[in-house]
Amino acid sequence: MADGDGGGAWPPGFFDRADERDDADFYAPPRLVTHIDDAAIAAVTRLYDELGVPEGRVLDLMSSWVSHLSRRPDGGLAVLGMNAAELDANPLADERVVQDLNVDPTLPFADASVDAVTCCVSIDYLVRPVEVLREVDRVLRPGGVVVLTFSNRCFPTKVIRGWLSTDEAGRAAIVRAYLERAGFDDVRTELRNPGRRGDPLYAAWARSA
Ligand SMILES: C[S@@+](CC[C@H](N)C(=O)[O-])C[C@H]1O[C@@H](n2cnc3c(N)ncnc32)[C@H](O)[C@@H]1O
Repeated sequence: MADGDGGGAWPPGFFDRADERDDADFYAPPRLVTHIDDAAIAAVTRLYDELGVPEGRVLDLMSSWVSHLSRRPDGGLAVLGMNAAELDANPLADERVVQDLNVDPTLPFADASVDAVTCCVSIDYLVRPVEVLREVDRVLRPGGVVVLTFSNRCFPTKVIRGWLSTDEAGRAAIVRAYLERAGFDDVRTELRNPGRRGDPLYAAWARSA
């Protein structure tokens, strides 16, 4: 069992998962699909544009064949995920890293080397999210932005129990707490797409000091 940040801030079992087997086994088959509907994806892309994400070098964490960017970022795109075939199929990426962040949360990037870090519909799979987000803060240049987006769809056996045991407002509070415990100030959380007939899209973002 992981405790998320080594600080004991979360209730016992919060970061347990129904399927505690190696993530590499679960993510071995490529899934060249989209995990949220078109309206939710459009909300992600719109937010990235509003925050100026494509204007610098971007790192898309827990990435796949799509990064939901409106265009190739001016500084290029690095993608990190579990499946090499998915990352190879990402048409905007110029750097690809296969890494299990639940085993090794250390990001293989230099300090202050990226302008934006994105992570779409995946934060709920991390068992050491605060460690990963501290690393995000390290690799972001001062003023760089981290953008976490999430919905209500998931692979339930791989999601942490704390996420499954609460509602959407509770999940927004969890993501805010992750960012704040990682050292980010002025965290914004918003429902960006209500998804009344489809997938809701929530976002949390903050800038590195
Ligand atoms: C629901 S998919 C989302 C993919 C992509 N971000 C998107 O928006 O379509 C979850 C992604 O999280 C990645 N992932 C899951 N567990 C991971 C882990 N332990 N370390 C790194 N990436 C992980 C998988 O590779 C998978 O691509």
